[in-house]
Amino acid sequence: MIPQHFIDELLARTDIVEVINGRVTLKKQGREYAACCPFHGEKTPSFFVSPTKQFYHCFGCGAHGTAITFLMEHDNLSFPEAIEELARLAGMEVPREQGTGERAEDHRPLYDALEAAAEHYVRALRHSHEAVDYLKKRGLTGEIARDFRLGFAEDRWDGLISTLSPRFDDKTLIEAGLAIRKEGGQVYDRFRGRIMFPIRDTRGRVIGFGGRILGQGEPKYLNSPETPVFHKGQQLYGLFEARKAATRLEQLLVVEGYMDVIALAQHGITHAVATLGTSTTRDHLERLFRVVPRLVFCFDGDAAGRKAAWRALEQALPVMRDGREAAFLFLPEGEDPDTLVRTLGAEGFREREATAQALSDTFLDGLKARYDAHTREGRAPAGARKARNSSGPCPEGLLKTQLVNDLARLCAVSPEQFARQTEAPRRPRPAAAERGRSARSAARAKAPQPPGRNAWP
Ligand code: UTP
Ligand code: MN
Repeated sequence: MIPQHFIDELLARTDIVEVINGRVTLKKQGREYAACCPFHGEKTPSFFVSPTKQFYHCFGCGAHGTAITFLMEHDNLSFPEAIEELARLAGMEVPREQGTGERAEDHRPLYDALEAAAEHYVRALRHSHEAVDYLKKRGLTGEIARDFRLGFAEDRWDGLISTLSPRFDDKTLIEAGLAIRKEGGQVYDRFRGRIMFPIRDTRGRVIGFGGRILGQGEPKYLNSPETPVFHKGQQLYGLFEARKAATRLEQLLVVEGYMDVIALAQHGITHAVATLGTSTTRDHLERLFRVVPRLVFCFDGDAAGRKAAWRALEQALPVMRDGREAAFLFLPEGEDPDTLVRTLGAEGFREREATAQALSDTFLDGLKARYDAHTREGRAPAGARKARNSSGPCPEGLLKTQLVNDLARLCAVSPEQFARQTEAPRRPRPAAAERGRSARSAARAKAPQPPGRNAWP
């Protein structure tokens, strides 16, 4: 809990121009400063910073706020982290009120233990021919292993614990997800006989690990459990590394696996990130769109991949504010980005990436696959469905307008007719009988149902 008076004082002592100018090149323009907006792609500046009012505003995408929100959005920091950063710049100490809120310093021992573990695994990798050979066989160089801090967990029950135990007690190692307590009370290493991929937060702190077994075995990948500092549904593997590698990121490529991120980076494609064995969540998307205006999702070209793409699309629609873009890249069956970049090379992969299908096309194709767009009857339920979801999750804006226009075309009606249809359920007090009838007729048409209401714009 950070006291409000401190935040007020901090903002009073902070110059927003200075904060932003370190990250975006500002040009003086009258009483304000202008730049190309860092939150959406543009060629002429519509992003303004006001030194007198101490806020920024983008006339292009509507981004708006104080030095605190700027750091949160631009550097992808949490609120307390943004405060910490500004306090550091202003030479102030952040006071904490006792409260239920989590206090950053409580996690110090966990971060320290995770960092020590990462160092230990890196050292162990240097001493394991087997592990180094494995990485070489997968085409990785020492440089890439260093950039991603790849390591190795020996196939022992106490490889890590025996090294860390004088400095860290069992409780800390268990809380950090590095060790497990047996029923008898004994403690042993969670990761054994695995290549270790440290997962770093946007500040570069190690917050967890993924571990891949050498060769065959179950499970193939073992991840850190949820801990006070590691939340799978929010973190993206490779985001820290991607930001570090680029002076300015324009887009991110969302892939499935650790090895995909690393193999791409090995070929100079350094803007890939991976979810951690979970499907893409809205949290992930919000995080990524704070960093770049465009996301390209990579999926297998098979049925499972298409299904996963549709799921990602459903998550993406609600966050598709104007200025944000998403596209879908379908890979040939049996390939993942790791294998593909090795066969196509960097150039070939980039060319393919450029052919990614726009979200709106993936959306309409998905609908066409679900409805028979060649018959009036086939189209009707699509329109009916749309009508019931007219205030659906896609935010108002150009994208939504275009999607609605396309849907109208798909149903072979004019956008006006379509709009009238979609407004119908929002009429004051629609007669219950009428609602019942339309539901029945929709059911009679026996259209396959889309996977969820949320899919509709
Ligand atoms: P894949 O099974 O597609 O593996 O899992 P991969 O990335 O191609 O790995 P390699 O090339 O065989 O080494 C994709 C991702 O799913 C998660 C991991 O995050 C992995 O990177 N996963 C997979 C798990 O969490 N556990 C598993 O047992 C398998
Ligand atoms: Mn793979």
